[in-house]
Amino acid sequence: MKGKQHPRNDVSLNPSTARDIHAVVDAVDPARRRFVGRGLGAAALASAGGLTLGGLVDSVEARPLERATASSGLPGIGFTSVPPSLAPVADRVTVPAGYTARAFVAWGDPIMPGGPAFAGDARESAAEQALQFGMHNDGMHFFPFPRRDGSENPEHGLLCVNNEYTHEEVLHADGLVGAGYTLAKTRKSQAAHGVSVVEAARLRGQWRVVKRSPFGRRITSNTFMRISGPAAGHALLKTREFTITDAATTPTGGTTDGTVAYGTINNCAHGWTPWGTFLTCEENWNGNFGANGTLDTSAATETAKLNRRYGLSASGNGYRWHTTDPRFDLSGNPNEPHLFGWVVEIDPFRPDSTPVKRTALGRFKHESVQHVVDADGRIAFYMGDDERNEYIYKYVAKRRYNPALRAANRQLLDEGTLYVARFDSDLTGVWLALAPDTVGVDGVKLRDNPNFAGTDDAEVQAKILIKTRMAADAVGATMMDRPEWTGARPRIAGFDEIEVYCTLTNNNRRGTSTASSNAADGSTAAASARPPVDAANPREDNVYGHIIRWREAGRSVAATRFAWDLFVQAGDSATTKTAKPSNDYRGDIADDPNGSADYGAPDGLWFDAFGRLWVQTDQAGNAEGDWVHIGANCMVCADPATGATRRFLTAPPHAEVTGVTMTPDGRTMFVGVQHPGEDSTAANPTQYSNWPQAQWTVEADGVTPLPGGRPRSTVVVVTKDDGGIIGT
Ligand code: FEO
Ligand code: CA
Ligand code: CA
Repeated sequence: MKGKQHPRNDVSLNPSTARDIHAVVDAVDPARRRFVGRGLGAAALASAGGLTLGGLVDSVEARPLERATASSGLPGIGFTSVPPSLAPVADRVTVPAGYTARAFVAWGDPIMPGGPAFAGDARESAAEQALQFGMHNDGMHFFPFPRRDGSENPEHGLLCVNNEYTHEEVLHADGLVGAGYTLAKTRKSQAAHGVSVVEAARLRGQWRVVKRSPFGRRITSNTFMRISGPAAGHALLKTREFTITDAATTPTGGTTDGTVAYGTINNCAHGWTPWGTFLTCEENWNGNFGANGTLDTSAATETAKLNRRYGLSASGNGYRWHTTDPRFDLSGNPNEPHLFGWVVEIDPFRPDSTPVKRTALGRFKHESVQHVVDADGRIAFYMGDDERNEYIYKYVAKRRYNPALRAANRQLLDEGTLYVARFDSDLTGVWLALAPDTVGVDGVKLRDNPNFAGTDDAEVQAKILIKTRMAADAVGATMMDRPEWTGARPRIAGFDEIEVYCTLTNNNRRGTSTASSNAADGSTAAASARPPVDAANPREDNVYGHIIRWREAGRSVAATRFAWDLFVQAGDSATTKTAKPSNDYRGDIADDPNGSADYGAPDGLWFDAFGRLWVQTDQAGNAEGDWVHIGANCMVCADPATGATRRFLTAPPHAEVTGVTMTPDGRTMFVGVQHPGEDSTAANPTQYSNWPQAQWTVEADGVTPLPGGRPRSTVVVVTKDDGGIIGT
């Protein structure tokens, strides 16, 4: 592609400020450059000190652990539940006694050379926004820098954070329209989407953003990217070629070759690789497109079928990019959506590296991607497609992971098999390969299904990946209650199963009218379907959601069979709603006293290295209606062995808790709070919330000014006052 990258949207590296940390990274023997560790060695565990993980970990090396008793509380979870934040929701984050939460980085904070301080009234231009932390942070991961001895530095690293979407009324000084909708607004919105790479350092005890870091980087909706894997170069990925500048998106008259793309959008949750790269997942990308002309999604054409199955529409999610940027106009550029819906790999330690869209992991509304390496060195990536009645997937790399040679793993995300899950009522399940030879529910192999027809199996496979949802329909996968994050229980201290969890956040369209199921021709209208309840999705009105988990047969990530159960059905212990035969709204959360840690709409899900399960919610942010007893959105901590649960953090009003990661020593947690004051307008942006400045008017260290005027999505840093492990 000859199109020029948006000239000031991707300033990622100022060579003049390059510091010796580059040399530190490069100097470390690649074999020891283990940025992301699974589990902890004996020395690290010993240095963690005071661990009491009885129910989580039966023994940690030689250190005997306390067993839980009625008086000692939950094993390994040493804090007391914070109370629910009931309506009217306080404009603050709360954490348990003995813990402190502070703002770390907020929308608009400068994170790279030349980045201006947040103005407070949204007057920033697109170019300025592209040098600042993006809007509406979501999934994130902390990549520690290596010390000179090769060990991980728990107080210095790169925090990679998704910026999922924008609240246009708050992003622009005069709102979505104001004086008129212009390309300048589109560009600012595009600049606030994507990924932020933030250099984080703990100095004199306080975590700070390194404001002029050479590693600071914004990846936006206009950043140049490569497309790799089996679908790269396919005709469906060839699109109009544009030159992108501040002033215009101008067609060159040419067509791309199907191996390049500009930008990433709606980066919800995430993943990371054991070779030290960040994976960002494109979720509701369909909503950023629109059509200036008519869009016939009922037609029998390939494009119309794809638009229908992936939810493209003329008006999208209310963004108006297509009115000023022809790249996002489906009428004139119908193949552009096919460049989205992928998992994108980013090397945070190489600020000038080109992100890569990995087509082998399939195309859908990716929520998160969780890797597991088994004892045999095989590696798999587990993923959910977040829409009502969509599916759970895993990708198994063809070759083994090589921990000794980082470069040897570069092809792992390009060569492998994508599977989709079928959960059977006998508590077992099957991974169905999305491959040309797989026989669909109609007895026809995918290769012979007209939707995936190709000149050879390579083209069939490319089409299967571009049309992943349709292939999953055809093979009879189980329609799930909105699969959100996946997480893998650490295999530590005697626990050696491959046990993966997935949040199923809610579903209000199951079993209440005409049943539907996967259409063999790949045309399932999943989002509007009303499939009957099944064992894996047992509630007909699943307001509060549940968490499913499975164990791979033979402790192999390459297994095609698994055993599963429901870890929890979330709910409101004090609800006055009448239970239905399949639908007890009270749930079965194991909290003591009962109801003290109720939650619903589980979304974020993550295991820390010590085996604690952290769950974040995405429910109504005003604590009204179904949430009057549960309160505002929250994050809970659970023991995967017993299900015992406590509430750790509550969010401000009209906000969601999104994203969590820890430093490798477990002593610092980063937690995301997204869209405080959601639904406010430009006329009154602080109508519902003025967080975080409502809570922290003056930051103690003065590094991150928090002027008033706009509520701001923010990454919060949580530490324990005694310096201990978070969760103890
Ligand atoms: Fe962006 Fe499915 O949450
Ligand atoms: Ca309970
Ligand atoms: Ca989410």
